[in-house]
Amino acid sequence: MDRENTAPQGGWAPEVMDRNLTDDDFSKFREFFYRKTGISFDASKRYFVDKRLVERMQANRCESFRAYFTLLRFQASGEELQHLTNLMTVNETYFLREEYQFRCLVDSMLPALVQNKTTRAPIRIWCIPSSSGEEPYTIAMYLLENWSGIREWDIEIVSSDIDTAMLRLARTGRYSARSVQHVPPRWLAKYFKREGDEYQISEELRQSVEFTRVNLAESGETVRYRNFDVIFCRNLLIYFDDLSRKAAAETFYEALVPGGYICLGHSESMSRISPLFQVRKFPEAIVNQKSLEAK
Ligand SMILES: C[S@@+](CC[C@H](N)C(=O)[O-])C[C@H]1O[C@@H](n2cnc3c(N)ncnc32)[C@H](O)[C@@H]1O
Repeated sequence: MDRENTAPQGGWAPEVMDRNLTDDDFSKFREFFYRKTGISFDASKRYFVDKRLVERMQANRCESFRAYFTLLRFQASGEELQHLTNLMTVNETYFLREEYQFRCLVDSMLPALVQNKTTRAPIRIWCIPSSSGEEPYTIAMYLLENWSGIREWDIEIVSSDIDTAMLRLARTGRYSARSVQHVPPRWLAKYFKREGDEYQISEELRQSVEFTRVNLAESGETVRYRNFDVIFCRNLLIYFDDLSRKAAAETFYEALVPGGYICLGHSESMSRISPLFQVRKFPEAIVNQKSLEAK
């Protein structure tokens, strides 16, 4: 690493600093971050991880990895850990991503769910991770446009992510042209207002989704998330290892009602992770279901 490029703004002499990470530093950090978030970095992510750690060491004026690691572990507020987590997550998302699952929601999952309902309690959908909000807002638009049951049933959409910067964007609801590129022009005109190069989502949609910060890897944080009919957990488990995927499957099992469904990203498979769910092959998509007989 070029020491010149890591010179502090605050006036330390470069020779007293060592912001290079050794293999041992990397292993220690990897283990710690995995325990905190479930995210597992292999050696191929070394450059990605080192770059962000050095950035945060500089921002905090820590002279060495050791000093920074102490701050990260023992800071009472947890503010720095949150800051670093926001930098370490991959937030790629866009409206109508893997649309076949939304089609499956309105044409297959919801009709099956309402058939088994014995009360008029709201239908609850949990979208985790939400990233900047495109996925839960897509669900809301899809229901408004394509599900006839919307007139009879109340829907609650809760959407969660570990990344507080992404949650801020989600609550604001302003999107780039790239983000909305697959939204049909009629929906764009109806649910967004163009402001310069950006698209502001309508107040009606903004109000239809509740955004919350949740770390899926912390069972203490997911314990209040219960009685969901459908869970969307797409493109998160790819960053977990087998152990944290298994724990996530158990969390989802607890969070779902009997007969509830879970949708994963196209490269993720529940049957490889956990035997808790049954595979359901609908015409539009293959999803996973908690048994109707389950408690
Ligand atoms: C690639 S995005 C997926 C967004 C969306 N579901 C989609 O498929 O387009 C992955 C998201 O997972 C979030 N994430 C990573 N670890 C998490 C954890 N332990 N708990 C909750 N969210 C997490 C990241 O902050 C990031 O926004």
